[in-house]
Amino acid sequence: MMQHSVIEISEKEYAKISQLVYNRFGINLGTKKQSLVMNRLRKVLLENNFNNFEQFYKYIQEDKSGVGLDILINKISTNLTYFARENEHFNYLQETVIPALRSTPKVSSEKAMRIWCAGCSTGEEAYTLAMVMRSAYKNTDNWNLGVLATDISARALEIAKTGIYSADNVKKLSDPAYKNGFIKVPGDKYQVQSEIQKLVLFRRLNLMRAEFPFQKKFHTIFCRNVMIYFDSETRKNLIKKFHQHLVEGGYLFIGHSESLGRDNPYFKYIRPAVYARV
Ligand SMILES: C[S@@+](CC[C@H](N)C(=O)[O-])C[C@H]1O[C@@H](n2cnc3c(N)ncnc32)[C@H](O)[C@@H]1O
Repeated sequence: MMQHSVIEISEKEYAKISQLVYNRFGINLGTKKQSLVMNRLRKVLLENNFNNFEQFYKYIQEDKSGVGLDILINKISTNLTYFARENEHFNYLQETVIPALRSTPKVSSEKAMRIWCAGCSTGEEAYTLAMVMRSAYKNTDNWNLGVLATDISARALEIAKTGIYSADNVKKLSDPAYKNGFIKVPGDKYQVQSEIQKLVLFRRLNLMRAEFPFQKKFHTIFCRNVMIYFDSETRKNLIKKFHQHLVEGGYLFIGHSESLGRDNPYFKYIRPAVYARV
């Protein structure tokens, strides 16, 4: 029988790789994810003929194309997501946030509603937002509606752009507003309807960027289950930037297991994991 030598990660190698992940992507792996990192990257090392993690690290450091970093983040980031996740948020958006924003003079004269889905992973959250928007605006003509959906993982964004999902992902949706948002395609899969896909623009964006390249402010930002991977300093900086990129009175939704902290001067608490810009 053929013997495969198993590549182990040393503490020193783990320290270097986790520091790199923190510096470039803000993701704080801490000291306990050594085996997880080793298991997620081992196959990459074997496939690309690296003998050890030190060699892989060196390659990423020296590679100017960014390909090495892409490979790393595609493997390290956790992309778990699903349609209508934490669905109370979508109900609250439709029943309270959109009507409240729409009735403000500024929004109603501009006739625009822009939502940023920051850390959109494979797209389910962004498409859910688009479905909610479409349903909230079905009788409102001439509005300019859009969801900007961004993530750092190129692999996740490739899936998102297809809008094609397995039947398992879609069949468990009970709300007709979501259920009717798909068409069946070959291979027992479902594709988000083109009318809904048109509302969503996917872009690659690192939330660690010093400045975000947006010309217009958003009415609502969803950044759910992303900041849990960041440390408090990184979170603080990002929250400040979310404030800058929201219209006055705009809303920020975060994951239900997350909090902005009591002492933040930028947002006021509305209800669990929902905040309004102050
Ligand atoms: C667990 S998923 C959350 C997906 C979705 N928001 C939800 O709640 O279902 C976290 C996402 O954050 C992205 N992410 C992590 N660090 C990032 C960074 N520095 N910039 C942009 N996206 C990042 C990951 O690639 C991943 O897709």
